[in-house]
Amino acid sequence: MNKDVAKILVTAEEIDEITTRIAKEIDRDYAGDDKKLILVCILKGSIVFMGDLMKKITVPVEIDCMKASSYGAGTVTTGTVNIHLDLIRPDLDKCDLLIVEDIIDSGVTLSYLTKYLKGKGAKSVRTCTLLDKPSRRKVEFKPDYCGTEIPDEFVIGYGLDFDEKYRALPYVGVLRPEIYTEEK
Ligand code: IMP
Ligand code: MG
Repeated sequence: MNKDVAKILVTAEEIDEITTRIAKEIDRDYAGDDKKLILVCILKGSIVFMGDLMKKITVPVEIDCMKASSYGAGTVTTGTVNIHLDLIRPDLDKCDLLIVEDIIDSGVTLSYLTKYLKGKGAKSVRTCTLLDKPSRRKVEFKPDYCGTEIPDEFVIGYGLDFDEKYRALPYVGVLRPEIYTEEK
């Protein structure tokens, strides 16, 4: 285990079971010729999760990416999100978008992106997250697909970072609090 990890919260085996289960749910929900499933990876945290998930999906699927960050999500509740990389598709009105996120915290990012992409004219927009911290919500938001709910602890690994580090860990772990208090 990495020395900066206090404890492992979701093991690699558990993540494997989660991606298998969610891929089956997606296969069930997006079957049929009238569907055009596009997985939208929210960079960078969702890269690892989306890479594993897409390999297990058997219905036809395309991928795309967006990059977004919520403005001062720790203090404000207005739900303003900055889009750094937008989704540009001429066929958006024919696309069934499934936003793939690493973790939902305040809910600001995903509630904003869902409304934003619907407003841009997508045929449908759903959301999928590996991790959910429901106790941290500032805006009401429920994902359509959820890996697992976790307590209010800062986690890293499997795509999730602290200061751009730890993304390559194969599990989700709780970061030792002294690491982020030290660096602040
Ligand atoms: P929200 O808008 O507050 O729901 O923001 C979710 C985003 O915050 C995620 O995409 C992550 O980038 C980041 N985030 C929230 N909690 C954690 C955590 O425990 N570890 C790492 N990143 C986190
Ligand atoms: Mg993220």
